[in-house]
Amino acid sequence: MLEKINETTEFLRSEGIIDPDAGIILGTGLGGLTARMKNCIEIDYRNIPNFPVSTVEGHDGKLIYGDFGGRKIVAMKGRFHYYEGYGPEQVSFPVRILKYLGIKCLFLSNAAGGVNPEFQIGDIMVITDHINLLPNPLLGQNDDRIGVRFPDMGEAYDKYLIKKALIIAGENKIRIHKGVYLATSGPTFETPAEYRYFRIIGADAVGMSTTPEVIVARHMNLPCFAVSVITDLGIEGKIEYVTHESVQIEAEKTESRMTTIMTEMIKSL
Ligand code: HPA
Repeated sequence: MLEKINETTEFLRSEGIIDPDAGIILGTGLGGLTARMKNCIEIDYRNIPNFPVSTVEGHDGKLIYGDFGGRKIVAMKGRFHYYEGYGPEQVSFPVRILKYLGIKCLFLSNAAGGVNPEFQIGDIMVITDHINLLPNPLLGQNDDRIGVRFPDMGEAYDKYLIKKALIIAGENKIRIHKGVYLATSGPTFETPAEYRYFRIIGADAVGMSTTPEVIVARHMNLPCFAVSVITDLGIEGKIEYVTHESVQIEAEKTESRMTTIMTEMIKSL
């Protein structure tokens, strides 16, 4: 794997992606942040060696490097999901690349269903911990040059960054929650019984991404900060018909508040 990582990293450096301070992975309906980046270099995933090839129509993402909040960042507009048929190692491969490009911190966002009865559609949840119900991306042989065999997950989400986000949300009068994100494979949304079960086992929000990327980031000791945008509710009495489109629409409505938090977080790095 290290050879592949080096090949991809070298390619991106030769395209001008040099010493980024931070990386950011943008979830469904949350790609608008990239419009605020300046002096950008954009590269289609399909032109990046060893990147997974997108098989889903309309999902061919872009890596965007540029200035944001006074820093150099690399944004992933579009991510890879397990439900698309990629292995967990492939889903998280771009995170390895971001680390080897030199990022000091990984920011992530996703759209998720709220299972905490206090949550409303349009809320933002800072992820404090997760429950990974996807296959672990570190299964298989470990390369000790990249990370340890048994990484600790006691603080997968950086406490200092969480604290900072709560202060920023307060200053900007943004309603915010802290909570546990549970990742399931999808592509089905949950049955009412599954939502209930996920709540019972400790989840506040449910989605189909993020945990493989965070596991791989922590394998390489990269600090992570992640937020969920609540696009629908898996709460008894409040469950409505969910589609990919309704998730996108609700995520887009919250996008500017999420971007405010991310901008201020990156500025203060
Ligand atoms: N469940 C799983 N994934 C999701 C949901 C949900 O309710 N909403 C957005 N992504």
